[in-house]
Amino acid sequence: VLEEKDAVEAARCPHAASTAHSLEAIPGPTNWPLVGSLVELLRKGGLTRQHEALVDYHKKFGKIFRLKLGSFESVHIGAPCLLESLYRKEGNYPQRLEIKPWTAYRDLRDEAYGLLILEGKDWQRVRSAFQQKLMKPTEVVKLDRKINEVLVDFVGRIGKVNVSGKIEDLYFELNKWSFETICLVLYDKRFGLLQEKVNEEAMNFITAVKTMMSTFGMMMVTPVELHKSLNTKTWQDHTAAWDRIFSTAKVYIDKKLKRNTMRADDDLIGDILHQSCLSKKELYAAITELQIGGVETTANSMLWAIFNLSRNPGAQRKLLEEIREVVAPDQDPCGEHIKSMPYLKACLKESMRLSPSVPFTSRTLDKDTVLGDYAIPKGTVLMINSHALGSNEEYFDDGKQFKPERWLREHGTINPFAHVPFGIGKRMCIGRRLAELQLQLAMCWLVRDYEIVATDNEPLDVIHSGLLVPNRELPVAFIKR
Ligand code: HEM
Repeated sequence: VLEEKDAVEAARCPHAASTAHSLEAIPGPTNWPLVGSLVELLRKGGLTRQHEALVDYHKKFGKIFRLKLGSFESVHIGAPCLLESLYRKEGNYPQRLEIKPWTAYRDLRDEAYGLLILEGKDWQRVRSAFQQKLMKPTEVVKLDRKINEVLVDFVGRIGKVNVSGKIEDLYFELNKWSFETICLVLYDKRFGLLQEKVNEEAMNFITAVKTMMSTFGMMMVTPVELHKSLNTKTWQDHTAAWDRIFSTAKVYIDKKLKRNTMRADDDLIGDILHQSCLSKKELYAAITELQIGGVETTANSMLWAIFNLSRNPGAQRKLLEEIREVVAPDQDPCGEHIKSMPYLKACLKESMRLSPSVPFTSRTLDKDTVLGDYAIPKGTVLMINSHALGSNEEYFDDGKQFKPERWLREHGTINPFAHVPFGIGKRMCIGRRLAELQLQLAMCWLVRDYEIVATDNEPLDVIHSGLLVPNRELPVAFIKR
């Protein structure tokens, strides 16, 4: 018997049937004994091509399909109405898939969990301590001075390190930029990563984050307990990297805690450090994870924005016109300016639709839930595929083209559940507002000072390595205006 909520959903979502079918009835690729569809996925290009395979499966099986890889089973959803339905039925403590290598490290060293890995009431308690400051536009806009301080260095550096406009390893440069920004926001500390001679501490810190990120994937697909008991190199490198990350972060959090003087208006976490009821251990973990969550995601989104602008000079010209209209030549772009720049916001949205950084997120259902035609039991892992949504012509006409105009009000409305690069609901990215402001300001500074040109027009292959990354150096150059 359908609940009232389900009847409302049936009216809204054309895919919701009047009687729900079981999990087993969800279509999907052939599920072979033991391996499930692993061999088929490997034949489709393996884990680095999984984003393409998943889009293909959505095309073949529709809005929802079931996939088993070895012993890991998940249900993939890629339709706005199903996401909306999930959002409306969400409980108080939505869960994501556990990142076991991270929880294993915390348990080993008796450290606390941060927002990326916390669950239940503890997650909610830590989340609400940070939510007010991080998700409130009026709070985040105050960070424009710090964001700009790093951007001045970044834009200046582009002018210095380029050879005929080309930057060697642009992705690493962008990672240094986002790392420097988040450290300034969180610890009030400049690490000097954009200087010509980078100091050793800063280099060790950023290398540790890189090592930690590159070693955890392996332990997501093979049992972490095994790595731990055999003390494999992967486990050793992973724990050594976390040790360094935690020890460095603790030094700067402690320094901030000691500075109990008048707090500046843009001291985002000063109040949280001093006034929240979180323990010191919880603060260490939560702040360290904010930093981990905010570096490569932001750098990656900027990389794709640069690429999309290079391939779309018409859009870039329009963006430059808007920047020149809003920001006087003797002024620096700031948070206030962004409010009057709809085309800039549209360019970022369109870039994140066409080239998302995080292709999917997950939820582990904490109760039996009806989604569309199916009754899905508690404990099922759902994959929310924002990449498949963004590339679906049903929701985005001419979806392969970069068309910022589609986001402008006069061009009609887009279903908000068709564009979810930061996830959905209570557990959506807590750094969203900060990332958006940082990216919008960076686009403003860059396009104002440089013409971003494509150095070739060959297709660019995208691979999945945690985030979606180009498989070669970005074919772009920066020409000083
Ligand atoms: C979670 C994307 C920047 C910190 C997430 C999720 C996505 C995401 C998809 C999962 C949400 C869900 O499951 O519904 C991005 C992208 C970014 C970005 C694309 C940049 C363009 C940041 C920044 C920070 C951050 C700057 C830190 C200030 C986090 C944290 C979580 C999270 C802590 C876990 C939140 C929770 O579970 O309560 N992000 N993120 N992210 N992100 Fe971001």
